[in-house]
Amino acid sequence: MNIATNHIPDRVTDTQPVILTGDRTTGPLHLGHYAGSLRNRVALQHSHRQYLLLADGQAMTDNAATPEKVASNVLEVALDYLAVGIDPELTTIAVQSSLPALAELTMLYMNHVTVSRLERNPTIKTEIQQRGFERDVTAGFLCYPVSQAADITAFKASLVPVGEDQAPMIEQTNEIVRRLNRLAGEPLLPEARALIPAVGRLPSIDGISKMSKSAGNAIPLSASPDEIRNAVRRMYTDPDHLTVSDPGKVEGNVVFTYLDAFSDDPGTVSDLKARYRRGGLGDMQVKNHLEEILQTLIWPIRERRARLADDPGEVMRMLRDGTDRARKVTQETLDDVRAALGLFHWT
Ligand code: TRP
Repeated sequence: MNIATNHIPDRVTDTQPVILTGDRTTGPLHLGHYAGSLRNRVALQHSHRQYLLLADGQAMTDNAATPEKVASNVLEVALDYLAVGIDPELTTIAVQSSLPALAELTMLYMNHVTVSRLERNPTIKTEIQQRGFERDVTAGFLCYPVSQAADITAFKASLVPVGEDQAPMIEQTNEIVRRLNRLAGEPLLPEARALIPAVGRLPSIDGISKMSKSAGNAIPLSASPDEIRNAVRRMYTDPDHLTVSDPGKVEGNVVFTYLDAFSDDPGTVSDLKARYRRGGLGDMQVKNHLEEILQTLIWPIRERRARLADDPGEVMRMLRDGTDRARKVTQETLDDVRAALGLFHWT
């Protein structure tokens, strides 16, 4: 398969607004990523200059002991991107750790962020708790919002499509941007806006824990028909809805949350909700409806992914192209920033 990338120009010269976003390469992506941002990106690539980062550098901040896992998932996440319909003719996909300008910008920006500000970042706070890092958080992990600010600004992005947990990162990015612009005395870097989907964060199958493939409570984008069926069967519903005739609760019912996120027929969904609340609609019936929707959504993604995975060399070539292009853009921004701040330059 030939993955063409050649009509994207090397420089950000046109007037299309720029999008930058990315994913940590810690494992294949799942439906949560799809609802949370992948499908936004597929739509936005037509109207924006879009860059996607395979954030292997950021993934290392909480996977330092397993670098080979982080590295091998670069290709997996790239396959997920292509499989859902990210088009390398429209979107530049790049490997974060192969862009040295990002590391240099991070170092510069770190001087404009206090440690206490980093410790107050709500996402960082939650993640430190979730990972049990309270007593031994690394400098790399604490500072990843700064490296994310480098990611966003290096591409001069104005729009960042992400899940809601990432909003504090954009806020911190903009604080850095304002400081640098004030210091430079010119609008050196644009402020960015988070684009957060209306559906909210997708819950895990069991409705409690955080979605993760390893915990077995997420549906991967490459799920087989059986995996999809079993996941839907296991989905948390209303524990008090014991018989079909009982009135049921829709709030906190994972099956309905997924229907809200993935059905393209809101009329039918609100109808099902009304019948469920009233009593007389069984869990199995709702689950069968959801399963059908998910099977239809996932099968073309799974097929396309399998075809692409057969030709990893071609995917690598596309990644190399994208990364080369991103290297130029990010180096240009670093040069601008260094010049605007009056940092040392060779004469
Ligand atoms: N922090 C993001 C996540 O955990 C991944 C990411 C890295 C990112 N760099 C980014 C997102 C830049 C948006 C912009 O999913």
